[in-house]
Order: sequence, then C-alpha cells, then structure tokens
Amino acid sequence: MTQPPPDDPGWGVRRTSFGSQADAYARGRPPYPLEAIEWVLPAGARRVLDLAAGTGRLTERLLEVGLDVVAVEPLAEMRAHLPAGAQRLDGTAEALPLDDRSVDAVVVGQAFHWFDVPVAMAEIRRVLRLAGTVGLFWNMLDDSEPWIDRLAMILVAEERASFLRNEQDAPYAGIDGMSAPERRLFRHAPIYDVERLVAFVHSRSQTILMPESERHVMIEAVRDVVPAGEFPLPLICEAWRGLRQA
Ligand SMILES: C[S@@+](CC[C@H](N)C(=O)[O-])C[C@H]1O[C@@H](n2cnc3c(N)ncnc32)[C@H](O)[C@@H]1O
Repeated sequence: MTQPPPDDPGWGVRRTSFGSQADAYARGRPPYPLEAIEWVLPAGARRVLDLAAGTGRLTERLLEVGLDVVAVEPLAEMRAHLPAGAQRLDGTAEALPLDDRSVDAVVVGQAFHWFDVPVAMAEIRRVLRLAGTVGLFWNMLDDSEPWIDRLAMILVAEERASFLRNEQDAPYAGIDGMSAPERRLFRHAPIYDVERLVAFVHSRSQTILMPESERHVMIEAVRDVVPAGEFPLPLICEAWRGLRQA
C-alpha cells in the first residue's frame, strides 16, 4: 500500500475523514482472512491491541478467536461501532493509551499508511512485550479479474493488487528493537452484493472527499460493472509481521 508523505496537505484531511461515513464503513468494508491473522500472532498470544480499529472489522475476527482485545480508535463516530467485547479506547498510534510491554501483539488493518511511522513505531515497540509481534494488513483489490480492473479504474483505486510493492519496500525499516518485517499475501473472496459494494465505495476517503456530483457519477458507474446478485469479491490481503526484540 502506498505511503502518502505526512507533509502532503491532503493527508491530515484524508486520515480524519472516515467518521462521516462510519455506517457505510461498518457495512461495506471487507473482513481480514483468519490465516493472515494467525500468521502474524505470536504463539500463545492472549492480549492484542487493534490499533486504528475503525468500526471493528479486524476487532471482530480477533474476538472470534478468543483473544482479549484492546481497540484504539481516535474518531468517536467509528469507535461507536466497535464490538462491546473489546476494551474500547480513544487514542492515536503516536500516543498510545497503554502501559509499557502490556500486549502480546499490535495489529493494524488498512491504517498504518496514516501514521507518523517513526513516532508510531516507537509507541508500538513500547507497548509490546519481548517477542511480541506487530501485524499490518491491507486488503487489495485483485485486479487480475477483469471486472475488478474496471472497478479499480472507476475508483482510481490505490489498493490494486497489481500495485503491490516488492518486499524491499517494507512499511517500516531500521527501528531499534524491532526485526525487519516479513511479508505474505493471502487470497480471499468475501461475499458481496451491489449495495454492500456501494457502501464499501462510500467508506473510502477518496470518495468521502469528492464533490457530490462526481460521487454520484462514480457510484452509477460502479453499479454498472458489478455482477448481479451475490458475488465473491476477489481480494489479496497483504500482511506484514515484525518481532519485538531485546
Ligand atoms: C481505513 S480505516 C481502517 C479501520 C479498521 N482498522 C479496519 O480495518 O476496518 C482507517 C482508520 O485509521 C484511523 N486513524 C487514522 N490516523 C490514525 C492515527 N494516527 N492513529 C490511530 N488511528 C488512526 C482512522 O480514524 C480510521 O478509523
């Protein structure tokens, strides 16, 4: 996933834009594959931080596998959707409201690119216990499928699987006390229908910040390319795993 530079004037606006579409977000965003979550967690993990938890798409999965989940999310409208089974906290990646060495893993779904990486990584390292892990996930549209390629074109999507960087372009590097992250890709295909896909499109920061007239035209074009009825949405989940070292 492309990392926008923190000095990009649109960056601050985009990363705080999601609250107005929290309902669409909760309805439309895809889940994360269980195998990817299992791959990033250390053996015997019990307490896990879901950082930038949004409406809880990743939180739900962590709860399903029986983990004790702390979900940190700065936007109140998003936090309101988080599942009650998690401990829900206001906070940011750059100032985590957690004690030192208090979690076995920190996971981040579709949000690490919004962080001030050196500051956030220092915080992530602080709250991780030794041999704990950080897991970063991005769901990418599998645009090797022709209708997904057309959809990605309409969305001017950044999250195209064909844009995946090579392993040298890791999301972080050179952080003392953290191993270099390793990457794996996981294919999955959650079931959608047109209304859920339209909700997904409405929840994207690019769509939220568009003028209403352009948004309307784009949504109509999306409706035209989507298959009828229920269909699998082909995705590739890019996952990165790093280890907290002494
Ligand atoms: C695209 S959403 C992802 C939400 C959720 N993790 C998911 O997978 O559905 C991005 C989230 O990152 C949050 N966010 C943006 N910048 C952040 C920061 N610096 N610290 C913590 N959260 C941040 C936003 O409020 C938003 O809820």
